[in-house]
Formats: sequence, structure tokens, C-alpha cells
Amino acid sequence: SNEAGDIVERALTLATEAAKAAAGPLRELHGQVESIDVKSDKSDIVTEADHQANRIITTVIGNEFPEHAIFSEEGIRQTNEETDYTWVIDPLDGTGNFAHGNPNYSISIALIEDGDPIIGVVYVPETEELFTAIAGEGAWRDGDPIRTTDRDRLDESMLISGYDPDGSFLSHFYQESRGVRRLGSAALNLCYLASGSADATWEHDTYPWDIAGGLVIARAAGATITDEAGDPFEFSLDTDDRAALLGSNGPLHPALLEHLEDGVTGSNA
Ligand code: IPD
Ligand code: CA
Ligand code: CA
Ligand code: CA
Repeated sequence: SNEAGDIVERALTLATEAAKAAAGPLRELHGQVESIDVKSDKSDIVTEADHQANRIITTVIGNEFPEHAIFSEEGIRQTNEETDYTWVIDPLDGTGNFAHGNPNYSISIALIEDGDPIIGVVYVPETEELFTAIAGEGAWRDGDPIRTTDRDRLDESMLISGYDPDGSFLSHFYQESRGVRRLGSAALNLCYLASGSADATWEHDTYPWDIAGGLVIARAAGATITDEAGDPFEFSLDTDDRAALLGSNGPLHPALLEHLEDGVTGSNA
């Protein structure tokens, strides 16, 4: 077997191990967070659990692949000009839920090769669900293949809203669809799209760590992922370049875009 293939297999196994290792402490701390640190505003928070999960994941990955770059939300930026590989990590996606004792939170780990996300692992500590994917090969939940839905009617569809500052996605599509949920973990939203419990998801601004893992999983499960103009979503490690993300099962995409183009988000009226 070739070197690239070996890396993919090793990386997927390692990312799964790292996520499961970080999940133990998260489960223990869930529901008993004593101190919450506010970062840029009241909704942007971090807890000791985020840092602890971060240390575990970056140590597991750093030990196995010391030459790779690591890019994690909670401050660890190990760069290396010589490597093609960057690990993008969100040690705890959905800190707001976590800190308030809500079980909807996840761990997201992705491997990027030359700018393209090629492996995604999203683990849900409270349900022990494991979502994995290899770009171009497939996506799985607990080892079983997953696919997006083929629903093509908005009025029969279940949508998930991510970050939506002016609430316009929610208010508009709430009328048009069967329902719009706001769950609180961007990584998990993409996994729900991938596995068919949602038909589309929307995130107004994205950071690379929020979406890297879920992006591989959703795409490999058949999802269509674009920006709000309908152009293919371009993953970027540049945190100053925060794009909106519209993910759907595919058949629903034209109808969703039509509404977005009508200025539903308020940002492009
Ligand atoms: C947040 C979650 C949330 C999304 C926010 C993110 P965090 O990540 O993914 O669903 O809407 O934009 O910041 O801070 O809990 O890792
Ligand atoms: Ca955060
Ligand atoms: Ca996040
Ligand atoms: Ca986080």
C-alpha cells in the first residue's frame, strides 16, 4: 500500500482514539462546570473542560505525528512549513450547551492535506455516537455507512440553524419547512445532515475548527455544501476569512438558495 493510504488509515484510527480519550473527562465534568471564562462576548465562553480535552487530543496526535501542524480552537498552533498535513481540532464544540448541562456537544477532529479536509471524526461523548469519514470514500456512524436524505420539498424538511445572528434563517424557514432547530454544535449539525436526521443546515459565520470534521463527514455522505451565494464552500484555515455555510441533502439546495438570495440572511440584501 502507498504512503498516502497508510496515513489516512493511521490518522482515522488515531483521531478516533484521541476523541474517545478526551470524552471521558468531558463526561465527568458535564453538568458540574464551576467556572466559565467569557472570551469575546457573553456567548463566547470556554471552560476548564475545553482546555483539558484540548490537552489530551493534541498530545495524542502530537506524539504520533510530531511533524504535522496542529490548529486547535483553544490556543494550540503548532506550525511546520515542511508538512502537507494540518490537524484541525475543536476539543469541545457546543461549550454553551456543555456549560449549562445540555448533552448536545461534540468533539471534532479533522486532517487537512494541502488545504483540503480529508478525514473527519466527530464524537458525541453523551451518546457515544462516533461519526467518521474519509473524503471521496464514505461516511459512517459507529461503522455503518450514512447517507443524506433525498427529500426535495421544503415543507417536508427538517432544518438546523447554526449561528444566525439576526435570526432571519430561523424566522423565514420556520414558516416554510417542517421545523427549524437550533441545537448548538456546528460539528454535530453537519453530522445530522450527513446521517439524515436533518435535511439542511446553515451557519452564518464559520471558524475552521467548527466545521472541518463535519464538512468531511457531510460531503462524504452526499451533502451539497456551498456559501450563501451557491458557490462551492471553500474550506480555509484563515480565521479572518469566515464564510457562511449552507449544507443540504442536494435536492433542497435550489429552494434554500432562492430564499437566501432574496436577502433572508439580511447580510446580502
Ligand atoms: C460554537 C458552536 C455553535 C456555533 C458557534 C460556535 P464552540 O462552537 O459550534 O453551534 O453556532 O458559532 O462558536 O465555541 O462551542 O466550540
Ligand atoms: Ca468557542
Ligand atoms: Ca466550535
Ligand atoms: Ca470549541
